[in-house]
Formats: sequence, structure tokens, C-alpha cells
Amino acid sequence: MSTRKRLHIGMSLAPAWMTGDAWHRADSNVEGLFSSDFALDIARRAEAAHLDFVFRPDVSYLAVDVLESGFGFTSLDPTLLLASIARETSHIGLVSTISTTFCPPYMAARQLQSLNWLSNGRAGWNIVTALQGHENFGLDQMPSAEERYRWAAEFTQVVHQLWNSFPNEALLIDREQGRYADVSRIKPIDHQGEHLRVKGPLNLPAFKARIPLVQAGASDSGRDFAASVADLVFAPTPDKEAALELRHDLSRRAERHGRAARDVRLLPGLNLFLAPTREQARELFMATHGRVDRARRFASIKQLVGLDLSDWPEDRPVRAADLPPASGNPASRTHSSLLRRLIEREPLRLSELLLRPEVISAAHWQVIGTVEDAVEQIADWAAAGAVDGFIAAPGGSTESMHTFLEQVVPRLVELGLFRERYRGTTFAEHLED
Ligand SMILES: Cc1cc2nc3c(=O)[nH]c(=O)nc-3n(C[C@H](O)[C@H](O)[C@H](O)COP(=O)(O)O)c2cc1C
Repeated sequence: MSTRKRLHIGMSLAPAWMTGDAWHRADSNVEGLFSSDFALDIARRAEAAHLDFVFRPDVSYLAVDVLESGFGFTSLDPTLLLASIARETSHIGLVSTISTTFCPPYMAARQLQSLNWLSNGRAGWNIVTALQGHENFGLDQMPSAEERYRWAAEFTQVVHQLWNSFPNEALLIDREQGRYADVSRIKPIDHQGEHLRVKGPLNLPAFKARIPLVQAGASDSGRDFAASVADLVFAPTPDKEAALELRHDLSRRAERHGRAARDVRLLPGLNLFLAPTREQARELFMATHGRVDRARRFASIKQLVGLDLSDWPEDRPVRAADLPPASGNPASRTHSSLLRRLIEREPLRLSELLLRPEVISAAHWQVIGTVEDAVEQIADWAAAGAVDGFIAAPGGSTESMHTFLEQVVPRLVELGLFRERYRGTTFAEHLED
């Protein structure tokens, strides 16, 4: 099993430090959510800490029911947002999310390649098959997960072909001979597949640096798709065993696809609630998630595992025997199986279950504690070969986010687990560093 010594670290631009009730805080700057200055401030801080990339997850629908109590997934278009910060930064990777289920591949290829030019080779693409929003794109129903992954595989192949259809080497810019481009190197792709028909070529050349791919979704077909194309896998791993299992499995699958195990890097989401003492960190967590929006959490549990807990008493344990048989087709098989796994492994009282990451934060790895606690846990997971890095989503307060960048990351540098400075200027170079 190959484990890289240095970690790769991304920073979520979805403001995790404002989720739950944290946006109520006077210093949350929630009014700035739709300004580019807001994301730019985080990107600059992340660049000062030499992180590999900033990352903007995204969806294409509005969940009106959650807006009464929080901003949910309302956001600027991620690719436009990242374009606005490209000129104001110089090194950090800029990973945008584009859904293969909803967006035409020509548009995706063009937008991402544009971002790559605007940032001098720092674009990345988070490939999502999406969970909801089909009504906004003329689809009668959401295609099944299997169908979406077949579509995603074809889509990704088309996007690569489009990027290759106008290669950088085709640009001659030879003033003396009056030759702008070598058109013999520009070729249509003439793709006719199960889901897509695209002629090509793309109407802009490829930048010299390639665009790394991130994939989120860790069901069987999600893993297989990731192992075939992705540089980075963004997956929820609430505990070290889940990460180890996924890391090993991705290596095996990558090799089956003719790639090296190290070509696919596992970067789980990491929620950090950081404070000077453990008690304060716990208080920060409870201030953020303690005032439980029960109806929403019950709805989420019902949707993921088919269990209706709405009239259960607080102290009643939820056990494996309470689970209905697994349904064949939940919206996210990744999140559904992680919640089932939690309930099967340990009986938890309802009040405890409602505070677990599998219920409140998409099952991400979570540290509630001090800077040292975070450093220790990250070092432990890295030493075990469970992860190749992580995508940080600090929670609770803006200060928790700053503490991560200004205190946790430097400690990882001291331990030799993270770079002291950038050696390259493109996102692809950071991944090799
Ligand atoms: C960690 C994680 C993050 C995701 N982020 C997004 C996202 O930002 N936007 C989106 O539309 N879907 C997102 N998804 C949904 C996936 O793209 C996919 O549709 C879903 O997980 C179903 O695939 P699965 O069967 O492999 O779980 C995410 C899924 C996971 C596991």
C-alpha cells in the first residue's frame, strides 16, 4: 500500500463555519455570502497556508424548506465565483463543481478550460452526478444512480476529448509566416454515444497544464468511476476504519483500471470544531448543532434508511434490529450505507444519534477539540495510510476556520506532513508535490 508522506489539503468554500446556528454570531459575516470578497478572503488565507486548493461544492435547486433557519446551499455559480478570485490569487488550485447529469459537456469543457486559462493552470473539476434538481433541466424524474454514473463516464470521456480536440500545441502564433494555428492538429470528436452526441472541436485551446478531477460519491459504482478517472476522491469517512477500507478499495480498483494506486488520492471531508480547550470546543459544537432541528433530522434519517423516529423517546436506543431492509435505490447510497453502518455498529440513544456526523454533516470525519487534538488525529490517520489528505470544513465560527489555517496547518508543516511552500504554480503540480 503506497502512502505519500505529504498530505494534500483543500479548503471548502461552502462556509461550514456558518452552518447550523453559527451564522447567528455577530462576526459570521453572513451578509457577505454573495460577494466575491467573501470567498477571496478565504482563498487568500488558504493560499498563505500553501493549501493545494479551494473547493466549491454546488447544487442546482433551491431547498426552500431549509431557508427559514439557514442559507442551505444557496450560492453563486461556483465557476463564475472561482473566476472572480483567479486574478486575485496566484498559486492555489480552484476546484469547481459541475454536474454531469444536468450540464451539456461542451459547456462544462469550455467553462473549466476558461477557468484554467484565467488562473494560469489552477482549475479543477469536482464531478458530481447530483442528487436533486432534475425538474430544473426538463427531466421527468431523476435518473437512477447507476444510470447517472454511466452518463458521467461518457460525459467525462467527452470532456477530455473536447479538451484534446484543440491542443495547446496547435497554437503557433507565428507572426513572420502569418500562421496563427496548425489546423491539422485541431480535430472534431464526432462523439455519438448512449447519452450524448457532440461534434466538437472545442472553441478554445487547452491551457498547458491539465485539469485535475475530483469525484464525490462512494457507492460501488461511484468508487469504480472514481478509480477510473479521478485524481482525488472526496468522500465521507466518519471513522478511520471507513477511510482505510475505502483507501484500500480505491487502490485495488485503480489498478484494475490500469492506473497506479497512488494516482487516486483519498481526501475525505474533515469538520473541525476548534477552541483553546476541549470543553470550549464541545460548547462551540453544541452552540452550532445542539438546538436540534428535529423535524429536518428525522426527515433525513427517514430518507436515508427508511426509519421513522419522529415519535421515539429521547433515551430509546436505536438498534440494528430497528432498521427496515435496505432499499435498493436511496438518493445517496454513500450516505445511506454510512448511516446504516453506524446504527448496526453501536446502539445509540436517539438524542445521541441526532448529533452524529452521519445525521448532521453528511457523515464527514469530525474533530471537536483543540489544535493539538486535530493535529494528533490527522497525523494518526496519515500514519495508518487511511488518507492522502483531506478537505477542511471548519465549523462553529469564523475563528475556528482561522485557527485551522493559522495553527493546525503550521503544526502539520512542522511534523513534515505538509508543504512549507509551493514548488509549482499549477494545481496539477501541487498534487505531485
Ligand atoms: C461527499 C459527497 C459530496 C457530494 N457533493 C455533491 C455536490 O456538491 N453537488 C451535488 O450535486 N452532488 C453531490 N454529491 C452527490 C454525488 O454526486 C452522487 O450523486 C451521490 O452521492 C450518489 O452517488 P452514490 O450512489 O455513489 O452515493 C456528493 C456526494 C458525496 C458522497
